[in-house]
Amino acid sequence: MQVQFLGQNSLAITTKDKHLLVDPFLTGNPLIQEKIDIKTIKADYILLTHAHQDHMLDAEAIAKNTGAKIISNFEIVNYYAQKDIEGHGMNHGGSFTFDFGKLKMVNAIHSSGFPDGSYGGNPCGYILQADQKTIYIAGDTALTFDMKLIPLRYALDLAILPIGDNFTMDVEDAIMASDFIACNRILGCHYDTFGLIEINHKEAVKKFEAHGKELILLPIGNSLKV
Ligand code: NI
Ligand code: MN
Repeated sequence: MQVQFLGQNSLAITTKDKHLLVDPFLTGNPLIQEKIDIKTIKADYILLTHAHQDHMLDAEAIAKNTGAKIISNFEIVNYYAQKDIEGHGMNHGGSFTFDFGKLKMVNAIHSSGFPDGSYGGNPCGYILQADQKTIYIAGDTALTFDMKLIPLRYALDLAILPIGDNFTMDVEDAIMASDFIACNRILGCHYDTFGLIEINHKEAVKKFEAHGKELILLPIGNSLKV
């Protein structure tokens, strides 16, 4: 699996033969809007963790461009169904085997409402199993004991955790989360996009290192292999 970081919580994940796009927020991201033309974005599926603008802003346009199916909670999928976009609704604790692999919807502690006021269900994270690898996409979340359930069932090869504070976990909480989920390889997300969530990169990496963990902070557009 290839995981490309596209800023905030946006990820382009390429499995053996499918393109998954997570939480597309590209045209509105002040750090990237001039570098990425959304017409070039490939997607067979768009995974949404919740209905906040910094996660779903470009979902509609990209779904219409690509014909991608939206995977999210039942309420978010219904919202897009009204715009004639195909989807696959799930709910917390449920999993489904798609043609790219298996996806489980897990808890996230956050909120979820569309910018237009529509109900966005409950926020979530995902456990993605594809190409014999397992990754945890936390979405926007606080540190929660629920994370301890994950390693009881899954051995994670990578976890994508928010570290920017204010709206989500900070670096210290994310380090604790990495213990809860028993994962040593963390890709940081949800930082620097706005002033409220700016972090010191060197300090963050050092703090993880001191705890025997690897924090990866990818420049926007860069990828890693799982
Ligand atoms: Ni949010
Ligand atoms: Mn967010």
